[in-house]
Amino acid sequence: MKDNELIRKNYTEYNLNELEQDCWTRLVIGASKSRSPFHTPCVATLNSGEVNMRTVVLRKTIPVDKELRFHTDIRSPKWNELSINSSISALFYDSEERIQLRVKGKAVLHHTNDMTAKAWETTSLSSRKCYLTHFSPSSFSDGSTSGLSEEIEQENFTLAESEVGYENFGIVSIQVQSIDWLWLNHAGHRRAFFDYSDGSFQWMIP
Ligand SMILES: Cc1cc2nc3c(=O)[nH]c(=O)nc-3n(C[C@H](O)[C@H](O)[C@H](O)COP(=O)(O)O)c2cc1C
Repeated sequence: MKDNELIRKNYTEYNLNELEQDCWTRLVIGASKSRSPFHTPCVATLNSGEVNMRTVVLRKTIPVDKELRFHTDIRSPKWNELSINSSISALFYDSEERIQLRVKGKAVLHHTNDMTAKAWETTSLSSRKCYLTHFSPSSFSDGSTSGLSEEIEQENFTLAESEVGYENFGIVSIQVQSIDWLWLNHAGHRRAFFDYSDGSFQWMIP
């Protein structure tokens, strides 16, 4: 499917099944196209009852498994938060199409397994830099810094030398439990809820 097949749809003519498929098509494109507005969702986790949000890059969407994945440094706070409470929510908004998706699910954390090995193999040198900071991401520093040595900052290192970063590399797999779809339309907004816990698809009042 071409990207432009997705734009300017009249969703008033859609049934719930078509809409649900459309959500997953957008999420698949979001993972593969860096220019897609769905490429960088905001992801929320809980830390002792307090909400934490941050932007991540959507790396993979597997519609058949109702699964979304993003990569992170296992030393970052979100990893610990998710290991304590796996509840996770991802927020997507396409301002051109005026579509919002509120995805809720449970996170499954992957570290040093087949999934991470495969993804790490195809992670570019510049992306590997993210996993090569001396101190943990989100820790405080004495001054303004990337947290990287000068060699790494300048990408003056080999792929083999970047292998130490693999220990810090993790994949968060979101097992989607529901999608709340909202479409803003001048002639009347539309909203639907897809609940995978009981398989029900329902219209909602926007
Ligand atoms: C456009 C954009 C994309 C980002 N992608 C990721 C990502 O894929 N994984 C990640 O861990 N952090 C990513 N970040 C950084 C996070 O937003 C966040 O600052 C960092 O991971 C620390 O989060 P934490 O302290 O909640 O763990 C991204 C930030 C931006 C602005």
